[in-house]
Amino acid sequence: MLRGMPAGARGRVEEAIDNISVVLQMRNPKVFASMAPSAVRGLALKQGKRKSVVHMNSHHPVTFDLTYKMDFPEMRRLYQRAVENQWNADKDLDWTTDVDPRNPEIPIISNDFFPDDYIQQLPVKLTGKQRIELNYNIACWMLSQFMHGEQGALYASAQVTESVGWMEGKLFGGTQVMDEARHLEVFNRYLTDKLNKRYDVNDNLFVILDDLLTDARWDFKFLGMQIMVEGLALGAFRTIHNMSKEPLLKNLLKYVIKDEARHVHYGVLALKDHFTNELSDAERREREDWAFEVAVLMRNRFMAHEIFEEWFEGIISRREWNNLISNSPAMMQFRQNMFYRLIPNLDFIGLMSPRIRPYYDKFGMLDYLKGKNASQLSEQDMVADLS
Ligand SMILES: [Fe+2]
Ligand SMILES: [Fe+2]
Repeated sequence: MLRGMPAGARGRVEEAIDNISVVLQMRNPKVFASMAPSAVRGLALKQGKRKSVVHMNSHHPVTFDLTYKMDFPEMRRLYQRAVENQWNADKDLDWTTDVDPRNPEIPIISNDFFPDDYIQQLPVKLTGKQRIELNYNIACWMLSQFMHGEQGALYASAQVTESVGWMEGKLFGGTQVMDEARHLEVFNRYLTDKLNKRYDVNDNLFVILDDLLTDARWDFKFLGMQIMVEGLALGAFRTIHNMSKEPLLKNLLKYVIKDEARHVHYGVLALKDHFTNELSDAERREREDWAFEVAVLMRNRFMAHEIFEEWFEGIISRREWNNLISNSPAMMQFRQNMFYRLIPNLDFIGLMSPRIRPYYDKFGMLDYLKGKNASQLSEQDMVADLS
């Protein structure tokens, strides 16, 4: 039936079917119900694309601590580390670096991201010039998503700073707000000054950010942002760092990765205490189910559809694109980088009970359990094995 439709209409129907399939894949109706309003705003109304400003309402509690008690030494040490490691984007990065995003000798993202034999599977042949242009567009798309994510992280970290109950956590939260502001600054500056092209926020990323920023439950916000989205970001930063030859971007990502390592550390410290000592079994199970669904969403849903729509819509179907991109070497490396860190963190905070493990196992994610969690890794550890 779709074959007989005009290409534009067919594209919209394929997109709707694709989005419905995301919803149907969700195993847990409670998680689905909690994410549904954000899914409507992101996937159906496309607020991230159709509006220039989106107003989100959050009803999280503000905890004003009048005891000023400091009794969380590990959190205090983390705060001190954060203060010592602040950096200045203006002074610490060389913005005079001449960046030519179409120079194949110094690629922003190498051909390995989307290798030649992969491109040859497409029913269109790209010229050498188009190939370079595609790589350039993919780089702009990725870095744009980083920038949108950093804007979300800025607001989420500010909200969490208000909500957490530990005084040291509030102090650390203040440093994270500054870090996220700097990350937003550097990605925006790189895109504007060096790449000269920006993409809209990906609909699925918008759904997750909208869900986190509007959920009043601080620990869901915390779990989603500090563990899940930061884990996703670390995996993506690492993949792009290792596939880039451009020195300014590599250096910028190294600085950002060091900051993010502290943010995940903060997340696991706070949540381990909260999940293991303060929640009932039923409440902990709810968080465990939510984390699993979000992990699957993150694994399956970042398909660069904006690139598909710009380059390949009408040439191949959305489903063919999804298959192609989800099996690409870059995507596989990205997933490996993401889950390698994420799974040990979920285990450390108590969200990997025997009840949920078989579900992760279906996606081959349990192999990562052996890895170190964020409380065992310093900023230096996180950048030591970058190539
Ligand atoms: Fe960040
Ligand atoms: Fe962060």
